[in-house]
Amino acid sequence: MAAELITSIEPLRRRLADVRRARTPVGLVPTMGALHAGHARLIEEARSECRTVTVSIFVNPRQFDREDDLLRYPRALEADRTLCDRLGADLVFAPSADEMYPAQPACTVDVGQLADHLCGRSRPGHFRGVATVVLKLFGIVEPDRAYFGEKDAQQLAIVRRMVADFNVPVAIVGVPTVRDHDGLALSSRNQHLTPSERQLAPVLFKALQVAHREIADGNTDPESVRRLALAAIPSTESSLRLEYLDVVDPERMQPVTTISGPVLVAGALWVGTTRLIDSVISHRNA
Ligand code: PAJ
Repeated sequence: MAAELITSIEPLRRRLADVRRARTPVGLVPTMGALHAGHARLIEEARSECRTVTVSIFVNPRQFDREDDLLRYPRALEADRTLCDRLGADLVFAPSADEMYPAQPACTVDVGQLADHLCGRSRPGHFRGVATVVLKLFGIVEPDRAYFGEKDAQQLAIVRRMVADFNVPVAIVGVPTVRDHDGLALSSRNQHLTPSERQLAPVLFKALQVAHREIADGNTDPESVRRLALAAIPSTESSLRLEYLDVVDPERMQPVTTISGPVLVAGALWVGTTRLIDSVISHRNA
């Protein structure tokens, strides 16, 4: 059966009220659309665990720190609907910006120190925008389970913490990163890469793998791990610009001074005018 497209909040609530009366689990997969195989994994996971699966598609203006990034963010509602149909999603919720933000919100979610480093540092206000829209989606859909990719590790950590801090009754499910054959993490932004940039793009994952192996082999010094990882990114390529590559605590998102347990190694790399992010969880081999 085709996934039902709903663009307004009240019809969605009415539709989901029937489902909730039957006491069957409701799953939510929040997305910004331009869906790819990474999103598909989240939808498949939701499909396998929930009776009713809602995929939200909303390019949330409040999480963009740069106007040009918002304007050129890919939009592909028809293709997205086809993919949702194929994966057996029940509902596609694709609201307009006016539907989500009929007025300037007075209240937003302050994510505190969770946004001090990594993407939070370079994209001021980004995670406030993410957390606020995710909390709104939780209020609209009231899902039992919600699915997020490990690729956006800081986002996942913030959503988990927000749900715990605000006692939101939803289980957050993290889904492993889906990669292309050469290791590049799938992303809606990858379609902006030129063929030669696409060839260079896997260097971010390669650098993370260097860090991962070092940590597995027992290197406990984050600065040395970082230096070795950075050496994997060719400094002679003018189209590459590293924004950050850091070793942080996987829950608090703060840099560690020594590696004693599992850590998140996360990086952001500009390839031409496209910003890519990726991360891995690493720990010493037993
Ligand atoms: P978007 O970038 O569309 O991603 C939607 C979800 O898909 C996120 O949970 C993201 O981590 C996951 N995802 C993206 N690429 C993936 C990959 N290669 N493998 C596995 N999962 C992947 O993240 C957002 O949208 C927004 O910030 C949102 C949460 C919808 C709030 O606006």
